[in-house]
Amino acid sequence: MKKRNDYLDLIVYQIYPRSFYDSNGDGIGDLNGIKQKIPYLKDLGVNAVWICPCYKSPNYDNGYDIADYRDIMDEFGTLDDWKTLAKELHANGIKIIMDLVVNHTSSEHYWFKEARKAKDNPYHDYYIWADKPLTDWTACFGGSAWEYNPATDEYYLHSFAVQQPDLNWENPKVRQECCDIVDFWADLGVDGFRCDVLDFISKDFANNKMNNGPRLHEYIKQLFGREKVKRLFTVGECQSDTESICSICGKDRNELKSVFQFEHIGLGRSDKYTPAPYSASQIKNVLVKWQNFTAEHDLLYILFTDNHDQPYFISRLGNDKELRYECATAYAGMFYLLKGIPFIYQGQEFGSANSRYEDINCFNDVETVNYYHENFGKKPQAKLIDEINYGSRDNTRRPLAWTKEKPAYGFTGATPWLKMPSRADEINLETDKSAYRSIIGFYKKILALRKSSDAVKYGTFKDLTSSDDCFVYERVNDGEKIIIAVNFEKANDLKLPPDLTEKNFELLLCNYDQTDGFSPAFAPYEIRVYRNR
Ligand code: GLC
Ligand code: CA
Repeated sequence: MKKRNDYLDLIVYQIYPRSFYDSNGDGIGDLNGIKQKIPYLKDLGVNAVWICPCYKSPNYDNGYDIADYRDIMDEFGTLDDWKTLAKELHANGIKIIMDLVVNHTSSEHYWFKEARKAKDNPYHDYYIWADKPLTDWTACFGGSAWEYNPATDEYYLHSFAVQQPDLNWENPKVRQECCDIVDFWADLGVDGFRCDVLDFISKDFANNKMNNGPRLHEYIKQLFGREKVKRLFTVGECQSDTESICSICGKDRNELKSVFQFEHIGLGRSDKYTPAPYSASQIKNVLVKWQNFTAEHDLLYILFTDNHDQPYFISRLGNDKELRYECATAYAGMFYLLKGIPFIYQGQEFGSANSRYEDINCFNDVETVNYYHENFGKKPQAKLIDEINYGSRDNTRRPLAWTKEKPAYGFTGATPWLKMPSRADEINLETDKSAYRSIIGFYKKILALRKSSDAVKYGTFKDLTSSDDCFVYERVNDGEKIIIAVNFEKANDLKLPPDLTEKNFELLLCNYDQTDGFSPAFAPYEIRVYRNR
C-alpha cells in the first residue's frame, strides 16, 4: 500500500485525445499522437497523464458515452497502440491515469442494445426503468432525464444525454461488471483512474436528488477498496463539500484517494453561460479555505484551474488580453506551489485562451449545441452567441495550436475535426516557446521547483496575506521555507513579512524582470517566489 505522501509527487497533465495531436492526417488526435509528444511532456516536467475517454464510442459526448470498455475508439487507434503508448509512457517515467465512466454507458453498448429489447432480457436490469418518469429531473444536458423506450413501453433514466443511459448499480451484476473493467485496465498496467461523475452511481430517490445516494460508499468501496486495486491513484468527480470529501477520501475510508474540489470554478458567474462580478481575492479565499481544511483532515487536494468541461480559467477569472502572460504565470505559481497534486490541462501551459465564433456550426459539444437549440428564438440571438462563447466546453476542446503554421497550426495536416482556437495566430506553442516572456518557460520552472523542493511537495501551508489585492503564503518543511507572493490585477505595494529580506531569502522565481526583488512595489499579476537562505 502506498503512503499518502507518495501521491504528492504526482504532476498530472490532462489530455483530451481528440484535440491533442493527429499522427495520421485524418484531422483527429489519436493515441500515436500522444506517443509522439512524450518528449514534450517530459520536457515540461509532468510525470503522469490523465487521458480523457479513448474507448469505443459513438461520440455523442466525445467518448463519455462508452460502447466497449475494453477496446479503443477507431479514430484513436487500437488496443495495441494503447499498450505501446502505456509502455513508452512508463519507460519515460510517466504514469497513466484512465478516465472511468461507469455511471452510464453509451446507448450503443451491447448491454443497452439488449436491455431495451424486452423486459425479460437478461440485461434489462442493467439500467434504470420505470413505467412513468419517477421524478421531474432535468438531464444535465437538457430535457427530461427520462426517455421513452417503445419496445418495452417504459422510460429509462439518463442523467446526461439521451444516448447515455444510467447503469443500475443496485444490480450486483452491474457492480461486478464495473469491477471487472477496473481490473482489466489494472492488469494492463494503468496507475490510476479519474472517475467520471462517480457520485451519480447511487441515486437519492428519497430526497429527489440524482447523486450522493445512500449506497454510494458501499459501491465505491467495492470498486476500489479491493486488495488488487488499492495501489491505484483515484480521483473522483464527486460532490465535494466538506462532509462529502471526508466521507469519500478520508484516510481509513478505503474509497478514493482524492476528489476534485470545484468551489473556485463556480466563481464569477451566475450560471454556466452568464458572467457575474468576482474578485481574485475570492479565488484566494477558496484556496486558503481548502488548504487549511485538507491539512486538518489529512486529505489530498487537487490543484487545478482548467479542464475539458470549462472555458479557460484565465479568460473567465483573470486576464487573457494585455496581461495574458502575467496572469497565466501568476496563476500557475499561485496554484501549483500550494499543497496538493497539480493537474495541468493541455494548452494551459502556453497560455491558451477562449475562442470567439459567431456560428453554431463552429461548435461541437452536445451541452452547448443542446443549450443553443433550446434557447434559439427565446432570447436575442447576439446574446445567445455571447453566452455560448463565454461558457462553452468547446473553448478548451479546440485542437492544440503547436506551431504558427496556418491553417491547422501543427495539429494536423488535414482539416481539424473542430475549428482551431480563434486566437491561434497569436497563441500557439511555437510563438510562446520562443518569446522572451514565455509562459511555458515559467511553467517548467514552477514544476522543476516543485520536484526539487520538499517544502513545496510536503510542507505545511500558512496564509500570510494581509489585504484583498494579493495572496502571500509560505510552505515549510524542516528548515526549508518557500514564500510565494502574488499580486492581483492592479499595481500595488504589498505588505510582505518583515523578515523577507535579501539577507534571509533568495528570490527564486519572478515573472517580471527584477532590479530589486525585495521591494514592496508589485506590478499587475506579478509573482515572486523566495526561499530562505
Ligand atoms: C463529466 C465529464 C463530462 C461529461 C459528463 C458525462 O462531467 O467531465 O465531460 O460530459 O461527465 O459523462
Ligand atoms: Ca488521427
